[in-house]
Amino acid sequence: MKTLVTKRLILRDWHLKDAFDLFEYAKLPTVGPNAGWNPHLCIEESQVIIKRFIEQNDTWAVELTSEAKVIGSIGLHKRTDLTGNFVTELGYVLSTPYEGNGYMTEAVKAVIAYAFEELNVPLIKVYHFIGNTKSERVIQKCGFIFDQRLIYKTVANGEKPSKSYHLDFQEYIKLKGREQ
Ligand SMILES: CC(C)(COP(=O)(O)OP(=O)(O)OC[C@H]1O[C@@H](n2cnc3c(N)ncnc32)[C@H](O)[C@@H]1OP(=O)(O)O)[C@@H](O)C(=O)NCCC(=O)NCCS
Repeated sequence: MKTLVTKRLILRDWHLKDAFDLFEYAKLPTVGPNAGWNPHLCIEESQVIIKRFIEQNDTWAVELTSEAKVIGSIGLHKRTDLTGNFVTELGYVLSTPYEGNGYMTEAVKAVIAYAFEELNVPLIKVYHFIGNTKSERVIQKCGFIFDQRLIYKTVANGEKPSKSYHLDFQEYIKLKGREQ
């Protein structure tokens, strides 16, 4: 994956040596369950997930530059939507002690710019579980447009009432114009 550098973060490939940092936040009950996966029970589980990230090559490690530490992840995943079309879905998590500093909003903006300007992705979808107001705010602050309420099927936590959003290239360009 291309390394993306923002004011305070480096979005980069995962390495096996990141397992300690991943486990530090993946074990927390505040992280995985809000994104549809169960907390990691041991560091070996984090190592398996890192191997999967490396294999699938669609998820960046979010490194906080000032601490040289991985504090989250962000990915662009190819999925099939409810109507059977291929879509690019954005997903992200951040270590709880680092919340509230605008880090994930900063990471999402960088990934959106890269997706539209370099990968030529036509449309990005993003979802959050109803009640996850922190993620909802990230999505709103990054300019996504609300589509609908729906039931999202998660691997670990069954079906969860959720909201879906999208951003397409034209909307991104308008957003960029307003921010300049
Ligand atoms: C959702 C998440 C990525 C937000 O990351 P973040 O870096 O804290 O995002 P921001 O700092 O931009 O904060 C977003 C909003 O969350 C709220 N928030 C963040 N941390 C908070 C805290 N500790 N207490 C209260 N509100 C908080 C704020 O309202 C903020 O919006 P504002 O800027 O309008 O005030 C992070 O909370 C997380 O990973 N949560 C668990 C996993 C998850 O929910 N992933 C997303 C699945 S869809």
